[in-house]
Order: sequence, then structure tokens, then C-alpha cells
Amino acid sequence: MNSAFLQKSIDVILNNQNDQGGYIASPNFEQYTYYWLRDGAYTAYAMDSAGHTVSASKFHTWVIHTILHNEKKILNCIYKVEHHKTIQPAEYLHCRFNADGSEAHGDWAYHQLDGLAVWLWTFGEHCFHLNKDKLCASEERALQLATAYLTALWNSPCYDSWEEDKEGIHTYTLATIYGGLEKISHLLPGEEHLATHKQIKTYILHNLQQNGRFVKSSLRDGVDANLLGLVVPFQVIPHTNEIFQQTLKVIEEELLSPTGGLHRYPHDIYYGGGEWILLSAWLGLVYAQIGQRDKAAYQLQWIENQFSAKGYLPEQTSHHLLDESHYQLWCKKWGQIASPLLWSHAMHILLHLTLLPE
Ligand code: BGC
Repeated sequence: MNSAFLQKSIDVILNNQNDQGGYIASPNFEQYTYYWLRDGAYTAYAMDSAGHTVSASKFHTWVIHTILHNEKKILNCIYKVEHHKTIQPAEYLHCRFNADGSEAHGDWAYHQLDGLAVWLWTFGEHCFHLNKDKLCASEERALQLATAYLTALWNSPCYDSWEEDKEGIHTYTLATIYGGLEKISHLLPGEEHLATHKQIKTYILHNLQQNGRFVKSSLRDGVDANLLGLVVPFQVIPHTNEIFQQTLKVIEEELLSPTGGLHRYPHDIYYGGGEWILLSAWLGLVYAQIGQRDKAAYQLQWIENQFSAKGYLPEQTSHHLLDESHYQLWCKKWGQIASPLLWSHAMHILLHLTLLPE
């Protein structure tokens, strides 16, 4: 294994963290020159794992500031759920922020619960890294707001992690909420969110599987590579679970290209539906967890072959497209595929570290 690649990924992330602590999704791709809770949280988790705790701490401080800045908005949504009132799209906590934590303008898929939930999970991990079990007032308030928001909204539709489907209840999104609420339960004891956490698991097991495997959402019965999140890292079920094993098999059959790259879901057309670096790493992490280290190492090798001469990893590659006709259309619309994408580097770091000799 070549540790130069590990360092390249760490450098890309450090070079793209702003002074306030946020990690930009991608500095060279206009649509992604913003700050997402989802991308940032995975990035902070990777930085913690790589020993860059200071960078991760700065990110968490930035998120806490962002959540507190949105306190009124969060409380208004909770109030509306409790009083059965309709919430307008722009009233939800946004998914895309500016460097200072204010909401990015422009119409975007506002309402995405997984970003906040992944943040909760990674904040819990961060406290674990620091051996910290007491919160300061602002951390406690941010956690209260985040858990109350997720508890109020988990069973109503929101956009999925790919910011495309807004109608369904998404299995991956529920997995992140399950994991997030569980992870911080010792930091913020509370019966309501623990009860929610149990309900979510029951909901997933009863409503989000068909023909012996998990489905993408309450409205889509196909697979999505993000279903890997049910096991790594959110541990809704153990990897030995038969439904998960069957889901993994279908993901391999339908989404994995022979070279090691993983597609998001069948019929993906975004930039022609290429192979996503972060998902290929995710699959490697699952293989490592189930003891298939050779397969995990193959994933890592494929990812490290995708580094550009500048030391960047893109969001996806265009070698094996699911639908060639859409590739040029997207290039015309938004330019070349985003590169570097910090989330890709984060997942690369996590897989690389997992495979280091013990
Ligand atoms: C992806 C999101 C991601 C965002 C920024 C979108 O295309 O679907 O998952 O958060 O880009 O990287």
C-alpha cells in the first residue's frame, strides 16, 4: 500500500477547510462550492480517524454554530409537525451552506435529513476520540435541536442523499438517523429519541424490504449503493443479517463494474451514471468488515488508480457509464465532473486506514 496516496487525500482536505471550519464540497465545480453537512461530516470523521482531530473539531464547531444560527427554523418545523401544519420547502433546515454557515441561496433540494443525522453520528465519534463525555452549553443545545428535529421529521418524506427523490422515505436516510440518535444517546440522554431510534429499526425491517432484500425507499424497490450504510457505519443490522447479505449480492450484481468501480443505482443518468469513488470505498469498508480483506484491497487499488496528476479524486469516473448519452449533456450544463471531491478523499482515507497492517 502506498501511503503517499493517504497523504494526498489528507492534504486535499486540509487545503479546502475554511477558517471557520467548514469543508467545501469541491473547490473547482461551481455547483459544489458550498458546504454540505453530509459531505463535511464524513470528511471530519475521516480526519479524526487519520489523527487530524483539530481539523475535525473545527468542523464540528462550525456545524454547531450553523445549527444554533438556525434554531428558530428548527423550532418552527418541530412546532408545525406537532400541530399538523404544512411546512413549506424553504422552511426546512437547508442542506447547502455558505462558508459562514448561512444558507446558500438558490433553489436546491432543501430538505435532506441524512446530512444532520450523519453529523450527529460523527460528532458522537469525535467525542469518543477525545474521550469526552460532557458537553458545553452550545454543544448540548445543538444536539437537543438536532435530535428533536430528526425525531419530529424522520417518518415524513425528504430528499434522498443524492438530492433527487423527494417523495419517499429512504432506507439510507433512516439508517443515518438510527445511527445518529444511537451514537449520541450517552451524551444526551432522552427517552424520546431513544424510542424513535427503536421505531426506525422496526420501520426499516417491516417496510423497507421486498423479496428478501432491502429497497431504496418506500417508493422505489430497486437497490442503491447507499444501502451499504445499513451496516457500515450505522449498524442498523449486523453484516450477517440475511437480508443484508442478499442486498449486498444484488448491489454487486447490478452496480459493481468488473474493475472495482461502483455505480449509485441502476439507470442513474447524472453525468451518464459513472462509478463513484466514495461508493467504491464504501464497498471496500463493508468487505473489510465481513473479513474479505482481499476484496477490500482490490477496491482500494482501483480508487488509488483514479488519482489525477494533481493528486485529486473526482466524484465519479466516466469509464463505464450506465448511459453515455447523458454524459455530454451534463458536461455542457455544469462542466467537467467535480474534482477534487472532498467526500471521495474522505472515504479513500477511511478505506486506506482500515487496510493498514495491524
Ligand atoms: C450529491 C450529494 C452531495 C453533493 C455535494 C451531489 O451531487 O448527490 O450527495 O452531497 O453533490 O457533493
